[in-house]
Amino acid sequence: MNTSTSVLHPFKKRPHVISTKSHRYGPPAIVLHWIIAVLIIGMILLGYYMTDIPKGTPGRAFYFNLHKSFGVMAGVLILLRLLWRLTHRAPALPGTMPRWEASTAKWSHRLLYVFMVLQPTVGYLSSSFNKYGVKFFGIPLPQWGWENPYLRDLFGDAHEVIGAILATLIVIHVLAAFKHLLIDRDGIFQRMLR
Ligand code: HEM
Ligand code: HEM
Repeated sequence: MNTSTSVLHPFKKRPHVISTKSHRYGPPAIVLHWIIAVLIIGMILLGYYMTDIPKGTPGRAFYFNLHKSFGVMAGVLILLRLLWRLTHRAPALPGTMPRWEASTAKWSHRLLYVFMVLQPTVGYLSSSFNKYGVKFFGIPLPQWGWENPYLRDLFGDAHEVIGAILATLIVIHVLAAFKHLLIDRDGIFQRMLR
């Protein structure tokens, strides 16, 4: 049975034949995956770096504002990515992959999405109960709360815990990606490249 259709691929000038059962991620999923990966890893490193700067040190606020601005940018891109993902199927995994591995991949990706959405949201909430609020590269953004040290610290602690969970999930995810690239050599790694 022929499962292929001729369609105009949005990123190619000439008609391109693609399979209706896709084995690849689309360009928007790939581009968003890598921009968000760089942003999140950068945000985690910046987050730990800036919180180590003693209070009262000149320039500390600069790093906090930079973290908040890139954090908001990451949050918006993450929501776009989630929207894209909810409206597009992930490519099928190879039939040769053991069931436990396929379901671990599915659930670890779901967890990554959950914590990716939670982290900027909770960061924004924590900053909304702080007198400084959130500025996006100097532009003040709506405050979701009021000055309240208890709620600021509550969401601040949650931001710290979620950040650590996200970092752990990312380490596992990257190790799994390299297992596919170097040990399994099943083309899974390359699916996120082109
Ligand atoms: C994907 C996005 C983000 C990631 C991965 C991330 C990660 C982190 C990490 C690892 C820390 C250091 C651990 C801690 O003490 O909490 C941190 C701190 C912080 N983040 Fe984020 N963050 C993100 C987004 C945001 C956003 C959107 C805001 C606010 C608009 C924000 C505000 C803060 C603040 C104020 C701190 C310092 C907390 C403190 O002083 O204890 N973050 N972030
Ligand atoms: C902050 C860092 C990262 C996050 C949050 C993240 C998140 C994700 C998520 C949620 C997916 C599932 C895509 C979907 O089905 O919608 C995915 C797929 C993938 N990621 Fe990442 N990723 C990160 C970094 C990396 C890095 C550094 C690598 C490689 C070294 C990588 C390699 C891959 C590969 C190969 C896939 C495709 C897996 C498949 O085809 O089933 N990721 N990533």
